Amino acid sequence: MASILKVKNLVTKFHTVDGVVNAVNDVSFLLEDGETLAIVGESGSGKSVSMMSIMGLLPMPPAKVEGGQALFNSKDGPVDLIQLPYEAMSDIRGGQIGFVFQDPGTSLNPILTIGKQISETLIRHLGISGREAKDKTVSLLAEVGIPDPTLRFDAFPFQLSGGMRQRVMIAIAVACAPRIVIADEPTTALDVTIQAQIVNLFKELRVKMGVSTIWITHDLGLVAGLADRVLVMYAGQILESAQVDELYENPKHPYTIGLLGALPRLDTQESKRLVSIDGTPPDSTILIHHCPFAWRCAHAFERCWNEKPALTTVGEKHTVACFYAMEEGR
Ligand SMILES: Nc1ncnc2c1ncn2[C@@H]1O[C@H](COP(=O)(O)OP(=O)(O)OP(=O)(O)O)[C@@H](O)[C@H]1O
Ligand SMILES: [Mg+2]
Repeated sequence: MASILKVKNLVTKFHTVDGVVNAVNDVSFLLEDGETLAIVGESGSGKSVSMMSIMGLLPMPPAKVEGGQALFNSKDGPVDLIQLPYEAMSDIRGGQIGFVFQDPGTSLNPILTIGKQISETLIRHLGISGREAKDKTVSLLAEVGIPDPTLRFDAFPFQLSGGMRQRVMIAIAVACAPRIVIADEPTTALDVTIQAQIVNLFKELRVKMGVSTIWITHDLGLVAGLADRVLVMYAGQILESAQVDELYENPKHPYTIGLLGALPRLDTQESKRLVSIDGTPPDSTILIHHCPFAWRCAHAFERCWNEKPALTTVGEKHTVACFYAMEEGR
């Protein structure tokens, strides 16, 4: 399958008064055409900063992308999003790459009607007339499940519920038929019923539009029914990646196992203990040259404190960065 986005060796730091925050430490991954990729990990693991780095949305300064590439297969051919000038990036963002953030309350402009906000995106990226943009906006509102779309065109964000505002954000993200949609915790501010509706809406849109999606979440439960493949992030690194079924059935990294709350395996003596992930992630102002999970890992041995494990293939589309998983051959 062809890849639509290839991220290679991404490094992003924040230069703050308290020191240098190593937010993203050498992250590489592929997004395949039409696939839904989930990125999971605890708070502060670098999920959002990775995406912001790719989208040119970091506050710079204090943030700086200090290395790496994000090769996007744009409609005009391959481009490195990291190197793209501001104007070119603004054309791609919202046009060829749509995004939805956690809190639609802060992402929507409070003083513009939702109809105007969607039509402006259409006019800016597709160059269509105001009349056409209005018609298209009404059909987009209907498509994302907003009742009475003609009436709602003139509503301001505060007149809508959180779930409806998130639907508006999704309408903006998919308005220009993007190649990729990046959704960063798009359901965390919503209650469970509305969360499920939004997840279903994404699934429907994916079938209709064939769009590739990156879905960021803490919630591994959501991922099961939604994603094709999962990246597990910790301390600004990817520790494991696998197809979703494989990750649930055969997680390799002690951190992934901890996140999944997996039951202990019965076939080896050693892992009969239930693995827990007590403790907290490392201080991100310290650059770590060994396994970043070693402090919290029940299986850490000498090598884990001396070297940093690289992502290594352990099965079809399954990679893990863990000496224990690799050497002990679990
Ligand atoms: N504006 C900032 N200034 C300094 N450090 C920052 C800033 N924003 C993020 N960071 C740091 O970058 C690292 C990665 O943060 P990021 O927001 O990507 O985490 P996340 O995985 O998205 O977490 P969450 O699940 O809470 O959204 C963290 O150590 C965080 O403290
Ligand atoms: Mg985040």
